[in-house]
Amino acid sequence: MRQNIVAGNWKMNKTLQEGVELASELKSILASKTPNCKVIVGVPATHITEVVKTVDADKVAVAAQNCADKESGAYTGEISASMVKSTGAEYIILGHSERREYYGETNEILKEKTDLTLANGLTPIFCIGEVLEEREANKQNEVVKTQIEEALFHLSAEEFGKIVIAYEPVWAIGTGKVATPEQAQEIHAYIRSVIADKYGAEVADNCSILYGGSCKPGNAKELFANPDVDGGLIGGASLNAEDFVGIIDAF
Ligand code: G3H
Repeated sequence: MRQNIVAGNWKMNKTLQEGVELASELKSILASKTPNCKVIVGVPATHITEVVKTVDADKVAVAAQNCADKESGAYTGEISASMVKSTGAEYIILGHSERREYYGETNEILKEKTDLTLANGLTPIFCIGEVLEEREANKQNEVVKTQIEEALFHLSAEEFGKIVIAYEPVWAIGTGKVATPEQAQEIHAYIRSVIADKYGAEVADNCSILYGGSCKPGNAKELFANPDVDGGLIGGASLNAEDFVGIIDAF
């Protein structure tokens, strides 16, 4: 069901102790608030269990940042979706541009990861987005359409209904160069139209589509004010509790 979401992605930051500290700060700041959106923190796999224990589950859900494309077995170093499930996490961030770029994740691999995430009763936060050269060549629509088609369009309408999409223009990630509210609205509306063409208007209307890329307390409100922007996937600003809550407060 479509909902407003602010999801943090801590990426490879914070020791376990620092992560627990950040989760406790978040808990105490949120104790006196009722957020107008779903709040999620995407934490390193080593931190999930402790962060799940630390946060107030009524206010903050926890996400992993990746899972294996295999169910189980001899895959040294990998973490399966069922292992993530057993920690108490509820979401898995999939297909982040950093995973695509540095770890060779293709749409084909992401298709497997999506299936395993759903099969384990977890919600994928599925990332898509174009790089700078693609934006400059005005190919952003084509790029996101292919990413969705190749990794997600094998799903049934019921399965697709469980997916959260995060649109992250790669040129805006960690660069301080945020998409304008107009650019965000335009491509979010396009993404929704691609979903509608395949699954119909109801599934498209119910899909939460988040924006990610240099989203900060100072620009979140104008981004989230757009009808097709249902929240954000937040990197840098999620590493500080006050900044993160500043973004949550934009709703
Ligand atoms: O997953 C989050 C995004 O990559 C955005 O990162 O907010 O640091 O630009 P950023």
